[in-house]
This record gives sequence, C-alpha cells and structure tokens, in this order.
Amino acid sequence: MSSSTMVQKDRLTPEPQGVGGFDECWYPVALSSEVAPGMVHGCEFLDGRVVVFRAAGGGVSVLSAYCRHLGADLADGDIKDDCIRCPFHHWTYDASGHCLGSEVGDRVPHGTSLFAFPTEERWGLIWAFNGVEPTYEVPTWEENDSERYYSAIMVADYRGDPFLAMLNVIDVQHLRSLHGLDVSDIDLQTVGESFHVDMTIGGGEMGLPTMTRHAHILGTNAVVYSRTSIGIDMMSAATPYGDGRSRLYLVTAGLHSAIPAEAIAQKVAERQRLSQDVIAQDIPVLERIRFRVDKVTTSDRGVVTFLQFVTNYPRSHPSAALIA
Ligand code: FES
Ligand SMILES: [Fe+2]
Repeated sequence: MSSSTMVQKDRLTPEPQGVGGFDECWYPVALSSEVAPGMVHGCEFLDGRVVVFRAAGGGVSVLSAYCRHLGADLADGDIKDDCIRCPFHHWTYDASGHCLGSEVGDRVPHGTSLFAFPTEERWGLIWAFNGVEPTYEVPTWEENDSERYYSAIMVADYRGDPFLAMLNVIDVQHLRSLHGLDVSDIDLQTVGESFHVDMTIGGGEMGLPTMTRHAHILGTNAVVYSRTSIGIDMMSAATPYGDGRSRLYLVTAGLHSAIPAEAIAQKVAERQRLSQDVIAQDIPVLERIRFRVDKVTTSDRGVVTFLQFVTNYPRSHPSAALIA
C-alpha cells in the first residue's frame, strides 16, 4: 500500500470507539419506561456498566454500576429513602453517587463516590453525557413535550459504532439505492461543526409519505428531524455499549397542532413502523461493512466531510476506572 493511501485512510476512517476514549456525546442509556420511580436498572454503556436510578420523586441518575467497596453490581441492590443500597454489605449511595455509609460493619472511607454522569431525561429517553461537563445541549425539539405525542423505542442493536447510523442522514445515495426512496431538493450545510440536511423524501416500496424535512446531526451519534411537512418528526441516537456494538434508539413524535388528537397515536405508530422497516434494511449492511473511503465520488462530499468531523471529534473516558 502506498504511503498516500495510508494517509487518506487515517484521515477519514474513525478509530473504533474505545480507542483513546469515547466520543464526548449525549447517549441514550435507557428508555424512560424501563426505570419506574424507586427502581434501579442496570445496563451496558461504553466499555462497562451503569445503573440508571429513579428516585421516588421522578429524578434520574446514571451512575457507575459497581459498588466502591468490593465491586458488587448495584443493579442487584434495592432503593431505600431515594438511595441505592448495595446488596452485599449495604453501603448506600445517594442520587449524586456519594456514599453515605453503611448500617453494618466499618466506617466507609471519606469521599467514597460512584461516577455520576451528567444526566437528562427527554422525549422518553434517559441520556448520559460521556464527559465531566456536557459540551452541548441534549438533543431536543424546540417545542415543549406537551405540544407533541411521542413514542420512544430501542429500534436496533448492531455491531458497529454509533456514527454509522448517522450515514442514514448524510449518505443521500443509499436512500435511493438501498431503500428505493425518491429524494430531491437536497441541501447539505455544514454550520461550524454541525451538519444540517434539508430534503424532500418519500415513496419507495414501503410507501413513505412524501415530505420535506430538516435533519440536524448532534455530536457524532444523534439526529433530530424537524420541520417535516407531515407533522411527525423523529429523533434517533446510537449508544456504544462494548465489543464494538451499539444500541439505536428512535423517538417518533407527532405535533398536536398538525394531527387531530384522536388520530395522533395511530399516525405516530404507523410512522414508527416505517422507520423500523427502513432501519431493518440498513442493519445487515452496517454490521458487515469494512469501512473504506479511497474511492469516493462527487456525491460522497457530505460523507467525506462528516467522516473528517467524526475522526477529529474529541474523545475521553472519565468513568473508565469505575464502570469496567
Ligand atoms: S460490595 Fe457493596 S457493600 Fe460490600
Ligand atoms: Fe438507511
């Protein structure tokens, strides 16, 4: 292989997540519906494990899963007075991950804490930021929750990094070839470090209604679709959870101002099913892809720009010592 080919590959092929940390993004770690008040839910995240914990009052925390004493999995613990109690020797942690002590045994060393991720709950998803401080706002729409009916699901679980799911937005050619959709009026804009794509899309075997829509990519893993002419928007975001795999979440949201109240649940469910069908076509390709970008064409301009962005995106792993 010539050295110039090496340079091109290095510049445009992102290192796998976990090499040099993980992208500093907001990641959905669980569905809101998975964590009832007073419950703790364990799940894999980055290269380790976290607990998602909801206090009786509704607030959520995402904390490293392993007890600071001898490492028991706190997902097996119970909730007492809005604190998680370890199943093994009953060390107890508050919602910020601070250890309050134990009712049995020795005094807990001073300053013992779990890793507490910056956490937000929006649109049926519980999001954690990989970093000490968020560098941008959690993905959202401008309208309040009350102006939308929405449904959040985990739509896929695939081998590959989160950025691959964003190619669904940027790679306009595959919308025609793989999904058989009619796509026109494409306008791809890079504003600073953020990507915006407007297009008219519809048709195909699945019968996607023809619509205009605006897509905005946030971080390297999430897209918010807005301003759709059919009154139903979407948001999707992928989360790395170890061994090179990602979970992909999807929120489908109907605007009350655009759809009658009695029809909105059904319309949102129909749109969600269409998205599931589209994503089901992508997954086999994404799972088996061996990414290379040494023969790109003019239409791949957006893909190349996005890959440059992903390759240079900041990474860190402040929770490394406590989640694995
Ligand atoms: S392992 Fe958790 S209290 Fe001992
Ligand atoms: Fe796709």
